[in-house]
Amino acid sequence: MQYKRMPIEIESPEQLGYDTIECNLAESSVNDAVFKDLKLNINDLILCYGHHIGKPELRELIAAEHNNISIDDILITTGAASALFIAATSLLSSKDHLIVVRPNYAVNIETPRAIGCEIDFMDVNFENNFEIDVKKIQSLIKPNTKYISITTPHNPTGTVISEQTLLDLIKLAESNNCYLLVDETYRDLSLGNKLPLAASLSANVISVSSVSKAYGLPGIRIGWLITRNKKLQELFLAAKEQIFLCNSVVDEEIAHQFLQQKHLFLPSIQEKIKNNFDLVKIWMEQNPYLEWIEPHGGVTCFPRIKQEINIDTEMFYNILYNKYKTLVGPGHWFEMSKRYLRIGYGWPSSESLKKGLNNISFALSETIH
Ligand SMILES: Cc1ncc(COP(=O)(O)O)c(C=O)c1O
Repeated sequence: MQYKRMPIEIESPEQLGYDTIECNLAESSVNDAVFKDLKLNINDLILCYGHHIGKPELRELIAAEHNNISIDDILITTGAASALFIAATSLLSSKDHLIVVRPNYAVNIETPRAIGCEIDFMDVNFENNFEIDVKKIQSLIKPNTKYISITTPHNPTGTVISEQTLLDLIKLAESNNCYLLVDETYRDLSLGNKLPLAASLSANVISVSSVSKAYGLPGIRIGWLITRNKKLQELFLAAKEQIFLCNSVVDEEIAHQFLQQKHLFLPSIQEKIKNNFDLVKIWMEQNPYLEWIEPHGGVTCFPRIKQEINIDTEMFYNILYNKYKTLVGPGHWFEMSKRYLRIGYGWPSSESLKKGLNNISFALSETIH
């Protein structure tokens, strides 16, 4: 495995230092929950090894939300990141082929690269509304294609695929004897109708999610892999046992108690996202320098600096961070041009978001020639 650090992690807010940032528009989640607000009771918890596949009561809660899914189809992981790592390292070798929709979460690309498999990208683009081109994916399939990797709702663009596209991709995976990996980390943050859980539709699908993004619990590192394919689940369990054996029982207990009462937290989370989204929308409509594809899910959008505008992007990001103490996700985090910037609107308070958006406008106007 040829590991390499990823720009999105090297330049992340927690690496730069939260205290160096006044307006943090670089996060891709809702704001982080505070332990005491969760009203948890973990005093009697026994700090033993946990169930290797994951705490049964936690898996029961997750399974109960979906049709056609039983608790045996669920493997608890340390965040969605390790679920994606487990899937890649279990399914890919240097002789295999992978199709990845790009941009994608870095682990969906860097782990397969570290494994050394052959990768073909289906690059979504602005002109095509960041939509997935199923025909293009079909044309990329080879006899040794192991899986097709997508994310919906999508980070960073906030696009959500249609149910028909999901069904077409599943059919493609089934008829070519490969898998469809669907990173559904933002599923609970769909602005319109939620798609069915992808893994509930076919045994050729692997769904991945976590409590990090929609509920603001990235600090407990709890995620999961769902597949109805028993052999695959056994393989994923073997990988988990070799990497970290079982989850932290503390993390599992917190996730379980939180998910039992998540209905108490979701309405205020959704209200905040809606209000913040409206702020971004109004700001985008008035901004002369940027254009966007309006997002339909998640908590990020991915505007770009209009093509006719002459700008030194290095200087723009420098001024934005060093003078205005405002951080966004520059395009190179996603292997895209730095003329694109990811704005995370779910994490900051409305005040901080407003200030951060104004700072982007100031930094742009100070950099444009
Ligand atoms: C699409 C997507 N998948 C997975 C992850 C990993 O999240 P976690 O490991 O905290 O669940 C992220 C984090 O940014 C993400 O954006």
